[in-house]
Amino acid sequence: MERIPEPELMDETQQAAAYAGADFEEPNQRFVETFLERFGLPRGTMLDLGCGPADIPLRFARSCPQLHITAVDGAPAMIELAQHALDRERGTCRERIHLVCATLQTLELPPAAYDAVISNSLLHHLHDPAPFWQCIRQHARPGAAVLVMDLARPASRTEAESIVDTYAATEPPVLRRDFFNSLLAAFTPQEVTDQLAAAALLPSLQVERTSDRHWIAHGRIA
Ligand SMILES: C[S@@+](CC[C@H](N)C(=O)[O-])C[C@H]1O[C@@H](n2cnc3c(N)ncnc32)[C@H](O)[C@@H]1O
Repeated sequence: MERIPEPELMDETQQAAAYAGADFEEPNQRFVETFLERFGLPRGTMLDLGCGPADIPLRFARSCPQLHITAVDGAPAMIELAQHALDRERGTCRERIHLVCATLQTLELPPAAYDAVISNSLLHHLHDPAPFWQCIRQHARPGAAVLVMDLARPASRTEAESIVDTYAATEPPVLRRDFFNSLLAAFTPQEVTDQLAAAALLPSLQVERTSDRHWIAHGRIA
């Protein structure tokens, strides 16, 4: 099935609120555990590209007391929700999360400064994936741990509908619509491998299929 791109930023208030209210406990916690299994407990600095409502940065900050996270999203509506999530957080871990409202194409952060770079479910939003991998190359320091997770495009619209029915049966219509559109916009693991080759990130990063709907790209920057 041909890829059908979707809008990059999730900046509709209703769309952002539906996303922030959805239950991503399982995939988000799996993301954190996958990072810990592969790289151990991170410390120092971490960059999260496309942080959304900051659920993943908060999970890292709670479990990693020596970690400072810069969490970036290009949608003001998402950054507002992320700020609310930080404000609701008890304890001091929110003080180690710095929110930045910027697109990755216009991001102004120090180069080669991050000990880890993560991103969950951003790549499929991008019309052109190249700036995403360039951004990782630019901001990760040599040896930095990288974990990217995203959806894998199914072979057909019927398969995409079946995945939505399996994993989002009880979610509101706006979220089911976004999930379906995201599956159609997603890259296949082979396309991601080609993107890594074009960005000179092979063999530092490797692509692995991890479920019927997800892949990860992981490794350390050379
Ligand atoms: C599906 S959400 C994932 C949010 C979060 N990573 C999570 O797993 O909960 C994708 C996020 O990427 C953001 N985004 C899309 N294109 C972007 C870009 N070019 N630069 C920065 N953020 C972008 C969207 O606004 C949205 O908040």
